[in-house]
Amino acid sequence: MSLRIENLTKNYGSVKALDNFSLEVNSGEFMVLLGPSGCGKTTVVRCIAGLVDPTAGRILIGGQLVNHLAPKDRDIAMVFQNYALYPHMNIYDNIAFPLKMRKIPKEQIKDKVRNISQLLEIEKFFNRKPKELSGGQMQRVALGRALVREPKVFLMDEPLSNLDAKLRAYMRYEIRKLQQKIRITTLYITHDQIEAISMADRIAVMNNGLVQQLGTPEEVYNLPANTFVADFVGSPSMNFLKCDIIESDINNIIAGSNGTHMQLPIKNLPLKLPFESNVIIGIRPRDILFLNNEDFNGIKVKGKISFSELLGEHRLVEIKIGICESIKVATDPNLDFTIGTDVTVGMPCNKIHFFEPNTGNRLQTTDRQF
Ligand SMILES: Nc1ncnc2c1ncn2[C@@H]1O[C@H](COP(=O)(O)OP(=O)(O)O)[C@@H](O)[C@H]1O
Ligand SMILES: [Mg+2]
Repeated sequence: MSLRIENLTKNYGSVKALDNFSLEVNSGEFMVLLGPSGCGKTTVVRCIAGLVDPTAGRILIGGQLVNHLAPKDRDIAMVFQNYALYPHMNIYDNIAFPLKMRKIPKEQIKDKVRNISQLLEIEKFFNRKPKELSGGQMQRVALGRALVREPKVFLMDEPLSNLDAKLRAYMRYEIRKLQQKIRITTLYITHDQIEAISMADRIAVMNNGLVQQLGTPEEVYNLPANTFVADFVGSPSMNFLKCDIIESDINNIIAGSNGTHMQLPIKNLPLKLPFESNVIIGIRPRDILFLNNEDFNGIKVKGKISFSELLGEHRLVEIKIGICESIKVATDPNLDFTIGTDVTVGMPCNKIHFFEPNTGNRLQTTDRQF
């Protein structure tokens, strides 16, 4: 069943939590709603579930308007941060509970509980109490309890936020695997861009009550629609350099950025830059290379190492360029750098992003090669 949200607005007094928010989740799709704390994610979920009334807008499930339906009649399953199983019931009864509440015949309950429990591999815990399970096992039981009713839509609001890093990575995989098996239409909420990238069919990146970009994880990462998305998705974050395009010759555009002069090879750029304009150049730390004296198809910049930090899989090096700018480079963890060393770095043409400084919107279209 598809889930469609049309022009949803929610005001809490003078706070505009949602501002004409629209989104469509296709039938069977795993959609991730990604955004920073306070941007309105939980408000979206609560409106869909019927726990708050939207100020304006329509919510449709399988093409049917549900605005007027009570939460229990919307056929939605929800999982939050706190999975809260019933402590006095054993695992079987915990999973069966939503069916018993609906007065479903005992034999049918047995079948349904068994089916979902087989998928989640939790049948072996049927006779145990929640306190006799590990954190990950309890979460699987909670997923079973949410899904046993075979709801039309599955909403998850930051379900992994309370877990340690290792269990979080494991549960990411478990939830995704389960959703691929049962293909239930899912809206998964998170502020964690790694969760979004690793789990989603499509990601809706949200800020200030609005969708900033909707696309596959690859699209959102490789072709960010604006500086907000570029900054929010990807770790370590993209570097941004504000540039004035000040001169040109046949082969190069010269851009100045706080006392740095950079040459951009004009014929290899993915867009035409208007002269005497301003532009923001974005480049991801892992796309920047250390150069010796070789020819290079991109921007070459000289700088001085100002900081170096080992982050496990890579080393993050900060390079001071010009008077007060600095850029971060993610490089081989085994390379060592002495603070103060002079270096030359290169930004390959096909890895550079251009943004308009006033709006922050992406300037080039999709004609980049990767
Ligand atoms: N019941 C409420 N009363 C007043 N303001 C609220 C209420 N719930 C949320 N808000 C405000 O609405 C905005 C969006 O909140 P929320 O949807 O919880 O964001 P998120 O889940 O993305 O962190 C925030 O500014 C928050 O303070
Ligand atoms: Mg929230």
